[in-house]
Amino acid sequence: MNKRRTVLQSVRYIQENVGKIQPASAGIVTGSGLGAVVDALDVEHSLPYSEIPGFPVSTVEGHAGKLVFGHAYGRPIVVMQGRIHLYEGFTPDEVVHGIRVFHELGIRTVILTNAAGALDPRFEVGRPMLVTDHINFSGASCLTGENVEDWGPRFPDMSRVYDLALRELAVRKALELEIPLERGVYVQVPGPNLETPAETRAYRRLGADAIGMSTALEAMAAVHCGMRVMALSCLTNKNVPDAMEETSHEAVLEAAERASRSIASLLMEILKDIPDTAEE
Ligand code: HPA
Repeated sequence: MNKRRTVLQSVRYIQENVGKIQPASAGIVTGSGLGAVVDALDVEHSLPYSEIPGFPVSTVEGHAGKLVFGHAYGRPIVVMQGRIHLYEGFTPDEVVHGIRVFHELGIRTVILTNAAGALDPRFEVGRPMLVTDHINFSGASCLTGENVEDWGPRFPDMSRVYDLALRELAVRKALELEIPLERGVYVQVPGPNLETPAETRAYRRLGADAIGMSTALEAMAAVHCGMRVMALSCLTNKNVPDAMEETSHEAVLEAAERASRSIASLLMEILKDIPDTAEE
């Protein structure tokens, strides 16, 4: 089936059940343990992925699997509460389905959040990291196969994936709120296993500061569609080869939940000042 047709199936159902989404709104994807971001919104509609035709259904614990429509400071916001991962067996196109739905709903700005291991030994667990760039080490791309020209070009540029103005906004808001904000490069690995010390050493040498199992593909799909992207990682564990600690999914979820309040308040402040489409 044509990639776009599947996305439009979901969009049609959403529009029938929720109505048109104003183009000035932002789309947010919440990562493991970060679903609490939704608590800060005035929620109007909530659609389980399982009800939306064409929408893949996540199976991971800690991921709610709902599309939530609400307002933050009077601005319409859509949240994908729970994401779709490669390690669940989904295809790259399925992993980025929600991002393309955002695009077809007229959303121009995407904010991705995730739980990540800190590869930079100076990073403190529990802090957010603003993603400045990524390394797609997942072994997959959401841009192979048929290219949908209506979305973007065959060979999209990736020299500025994470929008500079949004990054500056995040840094300014973190300063105002006195939330310590790390900055760095995120590497997406396929998962679901965590890393061996040798792998961790290798990813650090490749130039990554944080590691996780999502985000890069979603950011690529968003850039391909011409959307502005910002990504915030919640550093849930230290992942350094000489002080390697055992890491469990439960520990990652717990750490993300503990840090989710400060990430949610940072996000809400950012949403206040997200540029409108009309201002472009
Ligand atoms: N490695 C990979 N993915 C992760 C980690 C990690 O250390 N922490 C949270 N997600």
